[in-house]
Amino acid sequence: MIIRPERDKVRIWSPAKLNLFLEILARRQDGFHELEMLMTTIAIYDRLEFTPDGSGRIRLSCFWKPGYRVLGHDVSPEGRGTTLGDLPTGADNLVWQAIDLIRQNSGEKGSHLGARVSLVKGIPSGSGLGGASGNAAAALLAANECWQLGLPPKRLHELALRLGSDVPFFLTGGMAVCRGRGEIVQPVHDLPRLHFVVVRPPEGLSTPAVYRDCSPAENPASVYPLLSSLRRGDCRDLNHLVVNRLYAPASRLLPWIGRMSREFTDLNCPAHQMSGSGSSYYGLFYNARQARHVASRLRSRRIGTIWSVSSTPPGDNCR
Ligand code: C5P
Repeated sequence: MIIRPERDKVRIWSPAKLNLFLEILARRQDGFHELEMLMTTIAIYDRLEFTPDGSGRIRLSCFWKPGYRVLGHDVSPEGRGTTLGDLPTGADNLVWQAIDLIRQNSGEKGSHLGARVSLVKGIPSGSGLGGASGNAAAALLAANECWQLGLPPKRLHELALRLGSDVPFFLTGGMAVCRGRGEIVQPVHDLPRLHFVVVRPPEGLSTPAVYRDCSPAENPASVYPLLSSLRRGDCRDLNHLVVNRLYAPASRLLPWIGRMSREFTDLNCPAHQMSGSGSSYYGLFYNARQARHVASRLRSRRIGTIWSVSSTPPGDNCR
């Protein structure tokens, strides 16, 4: 998260994430799943601008980044009319919900607090890239800062989990092992910077639909062998270590997933996997030049929107 406070507002660039590991340990009584994940933020961003006022209202406008292209579908200069997913601007948007939630938890002065918020989306939805979760974390941080609420990190974390399982991770970002529903966040500081080619095919996937069709692992894989390999910069067996237990249900729902796996195998990528519940797919590299080379080869195959990006460090956001 990159935070720029200005005179009358705050601007936040909220990053996307990738799951380098996602194992399903159990189905819980509350309908969620017990997970073990390794997540990293990457340099694909949405931009949120939060201007506080005393109107008592939350006014949200939302646009796709102009110039966006998905398989030849250009985004108009106003950023509308795309195949990248819906852009709700009311109470359906997690940003709106985050601001309303923190306002309800800010005591007496809450009723006068208002804001104009603009969100420019660079992260497609239905992608497993955590765009909406990152936006929600950014909105909590922005409101806490601009409305001078002074909520401590622990309280922000509690509110974040009420908004979504991945939202607590985004409060700090960087690389972390996440457990429970995703809210037990253990930062990992000793991994090298990693480089990725990320492909978002022309169709997205619904997270609840993918989880509905998944099964907890009978012999769960562990994240530790992957952490050791990444620390050593080792490519051997890397492709077997970047597990995603949601790959099978996602690929049953969307043939693009299997197609992308074959494309990366064909290009001799050392490790590749789907992110989260899909539909985005990534290749992992220790070297940025190699990632750029694979990205340029994939671009000619017209399989979706393609980025060549790196992991990003954690922010110092919870002040
Ligand atoms: O928490 P969040 O709203 O992001 O979850 C979206 C959906 O993903 C849930 O409704 C549930 O179907 C699934 N999920 C799950 N177990 C988790 C996280 C998410 O089953 N730990």
